[in-house]
Amino acid sequence: MIEIKNVNKSFGDKQILKDVSAVMQTGKTNLIIGTSGSGKTVLQKCLVGLFEVDSGDILFDGKNLVEMREEERKELRQQIGMLFQGSALFDSMTVERNVRFPLDMFTNWSASEKLARVNDVLERVNLKDTNKKFPAEISGGMMKRVGIARAIVLNPKYLFCDEPNSGLDPQTSMVIDKLIHEITIENNITTIINTHDMNSVMEIGENILYLYQGKKEWEGSNKDIIFSKHDKLNEFIFASEFLRDAKDMRMLEEKGLIDNDRNMDQILKDGGASLLVGDDDPDKKD
Ligand SMILES: Nc1ncnc2c1ncn2[C@@H]1O[C@H](COP(=O)(O)OP(=O)(O)O)[C@@H](O)[C@H]1O
Ligand SMILES: [Mg+2]
Repeated sequence: MIEIKNVNKSFGDKQILKDVSAVMQTGKTNLIIGTSGSGKTVLQKCLVGLFEVDSGDILFDGKNLVEMREEERKELRQQIGMLFQGSALFDSMTVERNVRFPLDMFTNWSASEKLARVNDVLERVNLKDTNKKFPAEISGGMMKRVGIARAIVLNPKYLFCDEPNSGLDPQTSMVIDKLIHEITIENNITTIINTHDMNSVMEIGENILYLYQGKKEWEGSNKDIIFSKHDKLNEFIFASEFLRDAKDMRMLEEKGLIDNDRNMDQILKDGGASLLVGDDDPDKKD
């Protein structure tokens, strides 16, 4: 669990994070959402210690990052996995060497122990037998999976992902989201994902923090979003008319007013056609 308490962060005279407090839960995918420039990346960088906060506390399972000495920070860093925007693989290294990199940096395992672990995580992200390929030889989705494999190779307690779906098509994005979600549950990781991808919000948004101009405006789950009456949040999530309609439909469904499992033909046969079309349809010709 990561507890964020009253975090403030400015650059020069511009305050970026404004008194942000939240709890990132263990074994869950915790999402930080918000429009571009709302402070998601700055918040994540504060959490991993890449930026120093101006004030506030960040507790990793009770231990305050803000008060840690350099030695303790180093220890903590080894428990943190990071998936960078754009994967950030080393182009000159094979998949295997990319994934092995943290093991070379932080362990003194034997070559065969390292290889066994690399193969384990590559298999977990469904990239068996790609060891000898170079990043340029694999697809964007595969590169992300290599990035995930590298992020979890040291078996982290905390996993940070900044826009893991950037540059991916919706279907591949879903695969990546589900993979991160599964790994989070399997290994009981506290996972924090920055995203502005609405599919991710709906699919894996177990605990969502909505940032607006550096302030936490809302928090809740993907289910809560369906029923939320928060104007700014709704404008952000349901940006299109289509999505607003979809939200209305989902609300009716949740309330039991619509049963999506019912066969459409049956509904029409039951005389539901008038409900769907409306009797006063101006386009209807008698
Ligand atoms: N290193 C920095 N120095 C100065 N300003 C920064 C720095 N990093 C981010 N910012 C500013 O902080 C604000 C939030 O940025 P960011 O966290 O990257 O937004 P998001 O990730 O939500 O798109 C932006 O106005 C950005 O210009
Ligand atoms: Mg960002």
